[in-house]
Amino acid sequence: MSFYDSLLKPLLFKLAPETAHEIALNTLRSALSSEFLRQKIAEQLTRSPFGEIECFGLKFKNPVGIAAGFDKNAVAFNQLAALGFGFVEIGTTTFHAQSGNPKPRLFRIPTDEALINRAGFNNDGTAAVAQRLEENRYGDFVLGANIGKSKIVALEDAAQDYLNSFNLIYPFADYVVVNVSSPNTAGLRELQRANALDQLLRVLQMRNIALSGERPIKPLLIKIAPDLTQTEIEAVCEIVVNLNLAGIIATNTTVSRENLQTPAAKLEKIGAGGLSGAPLRQKSNVVIKTIRRATGGNLPIIGVGGIFTAADAFEKIAAGANLVQLYTGFVYKGFTIARDINDGLEKIFREKGFGSFQEAVGSDCQI
Ligand SMILES: Cc1cc2nc3c(=O)[nH]c(=O)nc-3n(C[C@H](O)[C@H](O)[C@H](O)COP(=O)(O)O)c2cc1C
Repeated sequence: MSFYDSLLKPLLFKLAPETAHEIALNTLRSALSSEFLRQKIAEQLTRSPFGEIECFGLKFKNPVGIAAGFDKNAVAFNQLAALGFGFVEIGTTTFHAQSGNPKPRLFRIPTDEALINRAGFNNDGTAAVAQRLEENRYGDFVLGANIGKSKIVALEDAAQDYLNSFNLIYPFADYVVVNVSSPNTAGLRELQRANALDQLLRVLQMRNIALSGERPIKPLLIKIAPDLTQTEIEAVCEIVVNLNLAGIIATNTTVSRENLQTPAAKLEKIGAGGLSGAPLRQKSNVVIKTIRRATGGNLPIIGVGGIFTAADAFEKIAAGANLVQLYTGFVYKGFTIARDINDGLEKIFREKGFGSFQEAVGSDCQI
């Protein structure tokens, strides 16, 4: 049994989930505040089993990233990188700072190895977060920034609100993600519909091109929900390819409560929110395969949803993911999860006889 399983997890799981999250994040931030310690830990936990992986023009030490929402305010991104994650995605941030939904808004459902959250983009605002990135970024790792719509801004004015965030975060992020898939901001997922999405992404991509000047254009990605139909996913893919976006992150949390072991009465008591973790695993794999087929395997995909082990990560890679991310797995498995998954992936690749990382991508999804 690991140190996390035997000691830390039982302690953290006694606390309210959001309190546990804050304590874990703050402890991580202060424990690894010194560059020296971060380097020592990084030496222990960082793996590069496939050498550098190139994806949308960036170079990743390994394919396992920490997903958006874990470090919304960019207070511990250097420390997360030191835990061996190949990339860190901060946010979601919104142009207007906001407090999010009333607490409690994060719930564990251990029977299903899952979480339900309705955080509602609680964050310090993109300007404050951009400043934090500017002042504190050390080490060499890929940093993504995830932006969303401010609650006080009407859906019709979303494009300008996203653009305001994009302008602020652009200089400090290696890639930027347009989040239109959180279930916890009223109407947000409407932006995934073809017309609205085309309009929004066009505005952002035009600004992106304008800002890039002579330099290569910054990778701009969109993060989608697992609850879209196949036709809707195909429509999203068409827009993304037409506008020459860098890729799709699949997926955010689901609003579905299907196939759970947890009693319905408990789920009802918890109420609305996005479900993450094990029950999302297959659902997000299906979305990844749909994207791969719709784009002929030519569009980079970041696969996320229910990754706890190397086998889970491999399934996503075989479905077509070029990189993977996780959040809930970190809560259930602890701070060595990136190392453990990378070690496990190396073993799986060897056993299956893949000669390179690229060979495995989409190996379970014929086009
Ligand atoms: C508490 C919590 C907060 C989250 N906040 C965000 C967020 O702010 N932006 C976002 O794009 N995704 C957010 N997510 C979704 C995750 O990034 C991820 O897409 C989802 O949880 C599925 O991955 P997992 O099963 O590994 O957790 C959040 C997830 C959780 C559990």
